[in-house]
Amino acid sequence: MACADASQSTVAERNVGMIDFDRIYDRHQFGSVKWANQWDEFSPRVEGEDLLSLWTADMDFRAPETVIARLREAADHGIYGYTRRDPRHYEIVQSWFARRHDWSPALESMLPAPAIMPSIAAMLRTFTKPGDGVIVQSPIYSPYFEVIQGNGRKLLVNRLRLENNRYELDLENFEKLAAGAKAFLLCNPHNPAGKAWTREELTALNDICERYGILVISDDIHCDIRLSNRPHIVFSSISEDAAEKSFICTAPTKTFNLAGVPSATVSVANKERRDALLATMQASFMVNANFFGRLALEVAYSTGVPWLDQLTRYIGGNVGFVLKFAEDRLPGITPMRPDASFLVWLDARGLDRKVGGVQQFFVDQAGVNLYDGRVYGPGGEGFIRLNVGCPRPLLRRGLERMSRALESL
Ligand SMILES: Cc1ncc(COP(=O)(O)O)c(C=O)c1O
Repeated sequence: MACADASQSTVAERNVGMIDFDRIYDRHQFGSVKWANQWDEFSPRVEGEDLLSLWTADMDFRAPETVIARLREAADHGIYGYTRRDPRHYEIVQSWFARRHDWSPALESMLPAPAIMPSIAAMLRTFTKPGDGVIVQSPIYSPYFEVIQGNGRKLLVNRLRLENNRYELDLENFEKLAAGAKAFLLCNPHNPAGKAWTREELTALNDICERYGILVISDDIHCDIRLSNRPHIVFSSISEDAAEKSFICTAPTKTFNLAGVPSATVSVANKERRDALLATMQASFMVNANFFGRLALEVAYSTGVPWLDQLTRYIGGNVGFVLKFAEDRLPGITPMRPDASFLVWLDARGLDRKVGGVQQFFVDQAGVNLYDGRVYGPGGEGFIRLNVGCPRPLLRRGLERMSRALESL
């Protein structure tokens, strides 16, 4: 295949066939973080016999065949020199968001990024000073704490309110924190809960940010796998002033399971801020393209829709399976139904108290490794996050092990 573009996607779309997401692949040989039960070489390992890994957020599925074929072709070429993104790269990104999310970022608004988290760090370093307040809404993806505190900024936590097994905004408290904040780090859709924020909710947040002069960094990495009829609303699409103050961070890495070949895009409508951010990124030599990451992004966005549609149905099936299984056989565990992503947030607070730490209980008694809700900050205590981006037979095995562990209590 030559370079991917939108016209080739129709050929790919016809040829995709039924994908066997049930198939289990051994991932140990390539140093998988998820299956080594280790975040990185600096974190302690989760120890256990024959552990099933249903924690960190990548999936146990092969990427779309079109992506694999193009990467294989590039790998076979064997010369992995410096590579660049041409203007078509940004047209591909623009076209993806226009087709999938009814949002068409201006071509000149887009900056290349190696991944989401390094670009958020660059934004904080460019637009806030040490000691400045940055708001997050917990429970939340824990590297947000690290990127704020690790860069010497002040973490301001607005706890989400849990109502009828859904998270709601606490706008009153958000406004109190806003008075001492320079930036707000929005996770849309929300990780760990998989909630897609509505236009009304985003507008309410934007109104407060407008009043207090707060910049909004929106991380939309989980926007593509849509499980409910709630659309993904891009923050900058709600109004002109929202667009002016925002940085929209996107990547195909969760969507197409490409976390190990990352490439991301940041859209910044305001020219002055875009230039300032680019200057920081250039000073950190962050803008060089990764040979495989750039290609993977282009091919995935150009040809990946049929794969993504099948994946979304499969993940939806896995979520349904978890909801039913929990109702029948996991007493003390209440899953939250996600609007998007491949993550299911499980309320196990009673159980957590009873067993003195529910995550460790399932590691020790079930051989299942889930993410401990405590990691997600205030409000995460007693919850666990289950990654359903895996073959259903494997998911079933994990849930059955958990069920047996609960029976033995
Ligand atoms: C909300 C969120 N943002 C960012 C990331 C990581 O993005 P990257 O690997 O591009 O830094 C993740 C990964 O799990 C995530 O869940």
